[in-house]
Amino acid sequence: MSSAEDARKRIEELRALINYHNYRYYVLDSPEISDAEYDQLMLELKHLEAHHPQLITPDSPTQRVGAAPLEAFGVVEHRLPLLSLGNVFSGDELFAWHRRVSNLAGEEGLDFVCEIKLDGLAVALTYENGSLVIGATRGDGYRGEDVTLNLRTIRSIPLSVPRNAPPRFEVRGEVYLSRAGFKRLNEQRAREGLSLFANPRNAAAGSLRQLDPRVTAQRPLDIYIYALGYAEGAAVPDTHWERLEYLRSIGFKVNPHNRLCRTIGEVQDYYREWAERRESLPYDADGVVVKVNSIEMQSRLGTVGHEPRWAIAYKFPATQGTTVLKQILVNVGRTGSLNPYAVLEPVSVGGVTIKQAALHNEEDIRRKDIRIGDTVIVQRAGEVIPEIVGPVVSKRTGNEQVFSMPSHCPVCGAEVIKPADEAMHRCPNSACPAQAFEKLKHFVSRGAMDIDGIGEKLCAALMETGLVNDIADLYYLSREQLAGLERMGDKSASNVIQSIERSKSRPVSRLIFALGIPHVGSETADLLASRFHSLDRLAQATEEELLSIPSIGPKIAQSIVAFFRQEGNQRIIRKLRQAGVRLAEEVPAEPTELPLAGLEFVLTGRLESFTRQEAEERIKALGGSVGSSVTRKTSYVVVGKEPGSKLDKAASLGIRQLTEQQFLEMLKGSQPA
Ligand code: IVH
Repeated sequence: MSSAEDARKRIEELRALINYHNYRYYVLDSPEISDAEYDQLMLELKHLEAHHPQLITPDSPTQRVGAAPLEAFGVVEHRLPLLSLGNVFSGDELFAWHRRVSNLAGEEGLDFVCEIKLDGLAVALTYENGSLVIGATRGDGYRGEDVTLNLRTIRSIPLSVPRNAPPRFEVRGEVYLSRAGFKRLNEQRAREGLSLFANPRNAAAGSLRQLDPRVTAQRPLDIYIYALGYAEGAAVPDTHWERLEYLRSIGFKVNPHNRLCRTIGEVQDYYREWAERRESLPYDADGVVVKVNSIEMQSRLGTVGHEPRWAIAYKFPATQGTTVLKQILVNVGRTGSLNPYAVLEPVSVGGVTIKQAALHNEEDIRRKDIRIGDTVIVQRAGEVIPEIVGPVVSKRTGNEQVFSMPSHCPVCGAEVIKPADEAMHRCPNSACPAQAFEKLKHFVSRGAMDIDGIGEKLCAALMETGLVNDIADLYYLSREQLAGLERMGDKSASNVIQSIERSKSRPVSRLIFALGIPHVGSETADLLASRFHSLDRLAQATEEELLSIPSIGPKIAQSIVAFFRQEGNQRIIRKLRQAGVRLAEEVPAEPTELPLAGLEFVLTGRLESFTRQEAEERIKALGGSVGSSVTRKTSYVVVGKEPGSKLDKAASLGIRQLTEQQFLEMLKGSQPA
């Protein structure tokens, strides 16, 4: 292919092909080609675009991610307001709604479209001349936030639509996180010491409202389109049902469980069926939405306030139960925060036994007026830590006790403080054993310095014996000291010493995360490392400098500056340096120049030459990424000793496999044979 004209043709062909296969995979869930074949198409397109950058268009499938972070979201005025819905909770209320609507509608027989009501957040997508131009949140219904760059990262949202689509139109839908995606995200956040999302809805909202689209791109968001907002320049069907069919036909993801119902009895059946089966859905649903099918009738019925008369949400019963709150206990966290939690009389809610619930902070307990001894309503939202909705005041006996935070740290006895701008009480003693213990556990943990062989028990033993008082002491332990501990043989002592030794050369981003700076999770740590490349440079950074980094706000910036100002922390860093822990790294090359850029690896089985963690780091250092499961996007599966089911999956998808030897060669820069 030599001339620019040939390149242009091929680029168009490739985009059409890739869009088609994206659609098969992400919208229909029914791929026609293997991941490897797909990757081949994508590679060819990337290659051509790299040589002809003037031909890159915003709707090219290569352009979903990678946009630069934003300072703030712009405002989008919705042409037509995004309404909310009135709720009904029983068959009687549903029938009452039906009567009202039928009376207003007159003689005409009405039919209804029933849809699953997903618990996510509403967005509006505007397409012009075939391309997605604006994606906005609902906001207050009239003005939303411009989250176009973030929405572009959702693979089931088409960046372009067929030529015969209206020249300008808007669709509406619900962005959501599946329960599995939510669980994975929270597990990762727990490992990173970040606050957990309370439910998939909050996680989806938080992910979509990220200023850095690259962060959004890593969150497994999805969408169902549930309405056409408006369409200009082309005729569209005049019933809601046919409009949904039409939207499906031009590439949108429409819920396959929607149903056209001819009578209100059929609507009731639909509700009963899904109230029963809701747990079988891979996402949280909080009810069904019932809509009058005729668009003409919809506009005749109109709206009252923010709610249309022509649609209603018929809500599922919540997953709640009641039980007795026996006691409120307090944990001391890594940053000294005092975390209250409720000890409950065990109760089964939706098939899960609940014994504890998070209580967040004193203010929250006060606001809900939760007292020790209260009968309380507990609620499970998604698969998260259960929460207490509130007390059942009518069950009070008068013996309930109002809770107040301890005035002294339950672990070290230091006087507790309550910073005015924070919700949490804190133990200010940075030498508090509870803090030191949590910090140590965090430091050695997987996502941090990953020191194999040091778990919770050994952390406790090291602190109790006084061998370790802060994280840096780990690097001064001798094999003999370790072997002297209870239940620690010579062999395991040597292993631990080796793991400690190995951890000295972890990437700086890991070290930054491992230090446990309040509000600095692993995503932020990565960001800081790629900006400063060394701990010393980071330690010297001013608040202004930190604030100039997108997605770092005043809270994080202040926390970092305060951390490095503390004499105790400076001493720890000196000790780390002295022990030979890596505090800086060479400035990495631009990601696109790295040899493994754009390739995703999945590892299965045991490797001989390095640990999983080391292998992953090597891949990332060369610009590649590591996936946790084999998908069509996987470029290579690296097969070690005793591989797992990932190997079968790779074989069934036709994904390229590498032996450890081939993998090693690839890391050295040569392609596998
Ligand atoms: S229709 C006038 N359909 O529920 C119609 N909404 O309580 C307004 N939602 O903001 C929306 N699934 O975020 C509609 N199939 C569905 C829905 C749905 C979820 C959400 C949507 C809306 C909220 C209204």
